[in-house]
Amino acid sequence: MSKEATDLFEKCRQFEDAKRIQAAGVYPFFRPIESTSGSRVVTHGRRRVMIGSNNYLGLTHNARVQEAAKRAIDQYGTGCTGSRFLNGNLTAHEELEARLAKFLGKEACLVFATGFLTNAGVLSCLIGRSDVIYSDRENHASIVEGTRLAIGDTVKFKHNDMEDLERVLKNTRSKYAGALIVADGVFSMSGDILNLPAVAELAKKYQCRLYIDDAHALGVLGSKGQGTEHHFGMVGAADLVMGTFSKSFASLGGYVAGSEEVIHYIKHKARTFMFSAAMPPAAVGTVLECLTIAETEPQHLASLRKNSAKMQRELTAMGYNILGSQTPIVPLLIGDDMTAFAFTQRLYDHGVFATPVVSPAVPEGCALIRTSYMATHTDEDLDYALEVLQKLGREFGIIGSQGRSEELAQIARTHFGRISQGSGVVTAQL
Ligand SMILES: Cc1ncc(COP(=O)(O)O)c(C=O)c1O
Repeated sequence: MSKEATDLFEKCRQFEDAKRIQAAGVYPFFRPIESTSGSRVVTHGRRRVMIGSNNYLGLTHNARVQEAAKRAIDQYGTGCTGSRFLNGNLTAHEELEARLAKFLGKEACLVFATGFLTNAGVLSCLIGRSDVIYSDRENHASIVEGTRLAIGDTVKFKHNDMEDLERVLKNTRSKYAGALIVADGVFSMSGDILNLPAVAELAKKYQCRLYIDDAHALGVLGSKGQGTEHHFGMVGAADLVMGTFSKSFASLGGYVAGSEEVIHYIKHKARTFMFSAAMPPAAVGTVLECLTIAETEPQHLASLRKNSAKMQRELTAMGYNILGSQTPIVPLLIGDDMTAFAFTQRLYDHGVFATPVVSPAVPEGCALIRTSYMATHTDEDLDYALEVLQKLGREFGIIGSQGRSEELAQIARTHFGRISQGSGVVTAQL
């Protein structure tokens, strides 16, 4: 069957979405940061409070962490100039793997150049033609990419919905040989925590392996920030746990941890590990020091939890409908996409840097402003952000109107299945 030849780039010419938002003067992406202290940034010549970052422990500007990065450059140079498989494997990579495995309570660990490459590489190398991935609908894009690269099938289940997971397992498990259930430990947009006890039970019942993405749980959940398994006191419940150093650990890089045997296999099979350059020395030095801090300085995590709890409490009391409830991610339900863009722009104009989450990342009409908090936010930072959020929330009719608040809460119940509703009505999702 022949096809009429067209210009491959026609779609680029037709692509108007971003231009429309730019033309409306509310484009919130790619804002150039001139300088930053982590919790504050300078953009377009003005200092703003950052409440849109994943720098949960605020370690990007920790003096010891910065020194460690410099020492690593002195020892190894600025780059590895190749894959770890061939010429880029540093003793520091191996030290990091050994220490991280111990911290997480796993036998072994493998460090990749990024978390995205970890998910893409691990899922694609483990899943064969007759195997299946069961994937939560709210899983991160890198997991989705991994499922696309994998040659086996993927079956999706409703977000954190164990009844739906059991339904799909009942209906489909017998069609496949091996099976892997994949879910975020802390979901990146909603801040929900995975229902690990239930998912682990289903994995056992239906002979599946379990893989958790702890990108937003490392440094955040557990007594020292070891992640989701530790939060639930269920170390070993997941067969594999992956994570990233691009959030709490103030750097760049990814890891997967599990049994010796499986990690050895991934090390020799994952193409995104074998054929991509290694995590650079400064990044490894940074992460090693972050690990020491997580192990020995509980005050950072305590401060993160205090700040997150304050914002959850205050924003709910103000009348915002928030998703999530137990993590530093506090998404505010706004409604339609253009309102979320306009709201984000007004926040920015008032010196508050946050990011919107719009469709298709969330259902139509359920746009969010994803706010997230850090250990290093001062009360002054947070109080300022609250003041602006109160003023603008009223201006946009998102808070201060019982009717609108109810309407938004109803939208959230329908689409997200749970909500911490403004004015104090809180429904936990676990
Ligand atoms: C849940 C989740 N998994 C994986 C990744 C990818 O991590 P990285 O930034 O290291 O590529 C991210 C980052 O956005 C994430 O949020």
